[in-house]
Amino acid sequence: MLLSFLRKNLRLTGTKYGCGGGGCGACTVMVSRYDPQTKNINHWSVNACLLPVCQLHGAAVTTVEGIGSTKTKLHPVQERIAKAHGSQCGFCTPGMVMSMYTLLRNNPQPTMEDVTEGLAGNLCRCTGYRPIVDGYRTFCESENCCQLNGSTCNMSNGNENGSGQPELFSKGDLLPLDPTQDLIFPPELMRLAEVKDQTTQRFCGERMTWISPGSLNELLQLKADYPQAPLVMGNTNIGLDMKFKGIFHPVIISPTQVPELISEWFVFVGVCVGAGCSMSFLKSVLERSINDFPPESTHMFRTLLQQIKLVGGQQIRNVATLGGNIASAYPNSDLTPILAAGRCTLVALSKGDQTSYIIYNILINFFLGFAKTVLKPDEIVLSVFIPASRPNEIVHAFRHAPRKESALATVNAGMRVWFNENSNVVKEISIYYGGVGATILSAERACQQIVGRPWEEATLSDVYSTLVDEIKLGPSAPGGKVDFRRSLTLSLFFKFNLAQMGNLCSNPACNIHCVLCVQNVLEGQSAQDPVGRPMMHRTALSQATGEAVYCDDLPQTDGELFLVIVTSSRPHAKITHIDFSEALKLPGVVDVITAKDIPGKRFRTFTGYDEELLAEDEVTCVGQMVCAVVAESKAHAKRGAAAVKISYEDLQDRIFTVEEAIEKESFFLPRRQIERGDVEKGLREAEQIRIGGQEHFYLETQSFLVIPIGEEKEMKVYLSTQHPAFTQEAVAETLGIPSNRVSCHVKRLGGAFGGKVTKTAILASITAVAASKTGRPVRCVLERGEDMLITGGRHPVWGKYKVGFMKDGRITAADFQYYANAGNVVDESVLVAEKILLHLDNAYNIPNLRGRSAACKTNLPSNTAFRGFGVPQCMLVVESMIDDVALKLGRLPEEIREINMYKEVSLTHYKMEFDPENLVRCWNECMKKADFRQRRQAIDIFNQQNQFKKRGIAIVPIKYGIGFAEAFLNQAAALVHIYKDGSVLVSHGGTEMGQGIHTKVQQVASRELNIPTSLIHISETSTQCVPNTCPSAASFGTDANGMAVKDACQILYNRLEPIRKKNPKGTWQNWIITAFLEKISLSATGYYRGHDLDMDWEKQEGKPYAYFTYAVGCSEVELDCLTGEYRTLRTDIVVDIGRSINPSIDIGQIEGAFMQGLGLYTMEELKFSPSGVLYTRGPSQYKIPSFCDVPLKFNGIGEPTVFLGSSVFFAIKDAVTAARKDAGLTGPFQLNSPATPERACLACATHFTQMVYESYTQPWALNI
Ligand SMILES: Cc1cc2nc3c(=O)[nH]c(=O)nc-3n(C[C@H](O)[C@H](O)[C@H](O)COP(=O)(O)OP(=O)(O)OC[C@H]3O[C@@H](n4cnc5c(N)ncnc54)[C@H](O)[C@@H]3O)c2cc1C
Ligand code: FES
Ligand code: FES
Repeated sequence: MLLSFLRKNLRLTGTKYGCGGGGCGACTVMVSRYDPQTKNINHWSVNACLLPVCQLHGAAVTTVEGIGSTKTKLHPVQERIAKAHGSQCGFCTPGMVMSMYTLLRNNPQPTMEDVTEGLAGNLCRCTGYRPIVDGYRTFCESENCCQLNGSTCNMSNGNENGSGQPELFSKGDLLPLDPTQDLIFPPELMRLAEVKDQTTQRFCGERMTWISPGSLNELLQLKADYPQAPLVMGNTNIGLDMKFKGIFHPVIISPTQVPELISEWFVFVGVCVGAGCSMSFLKSVLERSINDFPPESTHMFRTLLQQIKLVGGQQIRNVATLGGNIASAYPNSDLTPILAAGRCTLVALSKGDQTSYIIYNILINFFLGFAKTVLKPDEIVLSVFIPASRPNEIVHAFRHAPRKESALATVNAGMRVWFNENSNVVKEISIYYGGVGATILSAERACQQIVGRPWEEATLSDVYSTLVDEIKLGPSAPGGKVDFRRSLTLSLFFKFNLAQMGNLCSNPACNIHCVLCVQNVLEGQSAQDPVGRPMMHRTALSQATGEAVYCDDLPQTDGELFLVIVTSSRPHAKITHIDFSEALKLPGVVDVITAKDIPGKRFRTFTGYDEELLAEDEVTCVGQMVCAVVAESKAHAKRGAAAVKISYEDLQDRIFTVEEAIEKESFFLPRRQIERGDVEKGLREAEQIRIGGQEHFYLETQSFLVIPIGEEKEMKVYLSTQHPAFTQEAVAETLGIPSNRVSCHVKRLGGAFGGKVTKTAILASITAVAASKTGRPVRCVLERGEDMLITGGRHPVWGKYKVGFMKDGRITAADFQYYANAGNVVDESVLVAEKILLHLDNAYNIPNLRGRSAACKTNLPSNTAFRGFGVPQCMLVVESMIDDVALKLGRLPEEIREINMYKEVSLTHYKMEFDPENLVRCWNECMKKADFRQRRQAIDIFNQQNQFKKRGIAIVPIKYGIGFAEAFLNQAAALVHIYKDGSVLVSHGGTEMGQGIHTKVQQVASRELNIPTSLIHISETSTQCVPNTCPSAASFGTDANGMAVKDACQILYNRLEPIRKKNPKGTWQNWIITAFLEKISLSATGYYRGHDLDMDWEKQEGKPYAYFTYAVGCSEVELDCLTGEYRTLRTDIVVDIGRSINPSIDIGQIEGAFMQGLGLYTMEELKFSPSGVLYTRGPSQYKIPSFCDVPLKFNGIGEPTVFLGSSVFFAIKDAVTAARKDAGLTGPFQLNSPATPERACLACATHFTQMVYESYTQPWALNI
């Protein structure tokens, strides 16, 4: 693929690997071709991970390195994302840059709609997208009033104009966009295109032959010669099969340049499109058709156009073809239902004895089953005919997907009705559904019921029950969501009716606006002092140009091998034999590493339990690491890994869910309890809520490069970890060598969020064993699917609670029981369970309070630390309890929250004293800024006026403890060198993972040494510079390391004092050189001894946190009760942040965490099969928020946490409550997290959901 060619062969590592499957956009590049007919140069953004290099003959490829660099000149697209603070960890940034660059090459004056459409295929896990939108908004003429005409702008990079507050970035300094400066298309490629070289190209690899025919005849001949060979067009389907399912094709035919496949013909009754046309090309054909045909004939074109815009992201639409979509015959194609309903036909062609044309009607029996059509192996689809609509004929398409953009549909539909002239009597109707079976389904009986009858209530009301009977799904239908999908078939038909009547409301457009309040620095602060001022992430520009180096960007070292992990396929089994003889015979395979090869300790110990690095005798989950194959290349290692055969003897006692763990008393000890007051008094019956787990989905997967130095057992480990010292210790123990022989080096991480601590150390240890055994450098970079399978995520939690309350809303007692699904090994689960108990009270003073928590041991991959460390799960249960009290009393949740909130200096349930003044201030300020009470009234009115759309609003507070409850982790060290030229090198124990720690530390050093930041450099985090460091976690990295750097700088500054006194007018450089000549040491270590925190679980009291931070979030949503889809209309956030070192970075953290919380509580679902196999192993199955999930209005100050995302959850719950009221349902109800469209829709209890409800016993996925 182009991606590995760029990265490995050309050493252009700016283009990143994030998923390998077209789902994240990290690998976006621009492909350009010259069209000799139109004389135009066309540019497309494409995913390099799916683009075969062999398809690029005659094309120019532009990567992020090609458009600008910090060494020469930046491109405005690179500059603006960096300066607008749109690059945190930076791993997604080159992809964003290239998507935007391509958009501007095609359209230098885009609208905001163009920008969001162009970026929809790019994911970012750090920023929350707002700063990226803000940076790129500056290219939009309509959004850019102040820059264009100098008038007053009310939307200047998110700041309220006239507020007197500093701007996050200054538009005035930005480089102008000058298209004349863009790279020119290579003239030799133009000449090549003019020659119309139609000869066949053949490429032969080690195992595969690639043939690109130049003409249709050749294509048909090749198809006759190699009937089993696939046609690779956009490669968006076949490529995934080859990559992820291991399907191998010895011959591939790629007719992307065959003219007949990529043309279009307009005829009187419609338009004929070559099957090789991409979706983007089809879009332009339809746009032209809409202009050229009489308006009344364009209904089908418009509908198809609207549907195409929703297929994948821009990069997918630029390559995925119409023919490929049809021939792939997968059940939730967005095109086939509408093509079928819209009477489209296709022409298929084969050579045979004589070339035969067959016209298939897509309507009738073309699709035979999952990925099966009637096409014969030697047939190809030549073209598709899309008929113009006839008078009185109306066509509509609908889809519901787990995310608004770039997500395959859960259910979709194409529906067409043709009326008798001047009448509402139906002459013809077709209804096709996708996503409800192995192939698209026609609702024939329902259609028969309608034909010949007038389109009116009486006719249609019969149809729903027919549809319920006709569109069935088995109890364990692949994809699950059975009730929901069936209810969607009804509600989509209902929407067809609404559309028919012209009553279908459109969804709010995705146009994001933000108002951010930024702190002012204290009066009198010197202009040079950067502390407290917004400052760009110190390497944002390198990140935007692709120069920033991540672990896998390190150049290949001599003799380097690649390591691929082999994992267990059984949830619980004895390993009876590992046979790797076949693997060792394969070319390129060098060795197989098993537990027996580990020279030192074969396990890591966490909270008293041992975790094997590689399983020896028994496996306890699918995905457990068993052995590893090392080979000359990644491809060889993958083949080797596939050839390893592990024999098992299954063990029967498998535990997957928390219920099973409770029944079998399968827990990691100790189980904790905390209690104050008399809890039993006045408690009501228990309620419950489930909170699903969450995948970290850092964009950079786990990556390692271990280099044996070859002398005295020294090992250099380059890796992406939050905790280098822990990895150093793990590697040393594993190899049986002292720590002083192992050095760990971390330049930067492409995101981490807690997921790069424990599992990283284990993976690094295995890689080190391979390096030690072979004596060669070994690289290991997990693929996205491996990473998701092996490394675990946030703990799913089942929370039960009982609550006692008074009629006036005061909660008198609450009793919580938490069960966290820890997985097969303990990792940090016991600590997570403890932290849950420490946040039980959230912001509420509940006099009688008890909490019990347990980490359940199950046969699922082990879960680990994740931003918030159990608190987001804990608090959702607490807030659900508050909601229930409100529903029970018929009052509003915000009233119950206010009544019970801490209001004066208090003791927590573990007797830590604190002052909640800032909590109350945050609450009041958020209430005011959000205009909460007025909006609540407006929402009530909206809900009375709308039956199927409901709005909801919620405001939630958080009190969050900062620091590690384990006292010894609250320390940090730093090393600062000043060189003779005055430049300063700072090293500290924190790792840079996008949170901007190096930038803030640079600001601190600048203030302490009183020099500009430009003199200060931070190269990497290394155990050689600063030993025995603590993890960058618990929101404590900058607090601790900043203090250590401050200490070191103050030592140095004081040492220079006599020199400064002697020469007060001297420059920094003068003083430094003098100090050197006077033999004053210019190097110092700094140390920070943090708070002595502790928690005595026996006594149930302590001071486990240095302090609390407070925040309040308020969100409003609009929910479509028919489909469960929602849109966050507005979010307001207020946080007590103290004094920020760098407001732009802190705001970035706030928004990023909020969006991660929004994903956790409303969208992200991990799915396991009934036998414990993780289904969700990539962005196609696991949806994190994308651009269009950002609240349309996003107002914030301060540093909030993930938990504030729950304001969206509770706003959805509020909207559902309104819908349930219409259905006659009041009182508490259980809404589990995430509140996906499925859950929200079913909870609304509409007429349609009630029609389909059945209880299934054999679900497709586990409820863990
Ligand atoms: C990230 C991602 C998101 C996606 N989102 C959506 C979505 O939202 N909605 C949706 O509908 N689809 C979606 N898809 C699927 C995508 O639309 C299809 O994979 C694509 O249309 C297939 O076209 P292709 O040219 O890439 O086919 P290829 O992968 O090149 O080929 C697929 C199959 O079709 C056969 N084939 C191709 N052309 C012909 C022909 N002319 N005659 C006979 N056989 C042929 C090939 O032999 C092969 O077996 C998504 C895919 C990805 C990777
Ligand atoms: S790496 Fe190509 S889209 Fe994710
Ligand atoms: S900055 Fe986007 S993924 Fe980190």
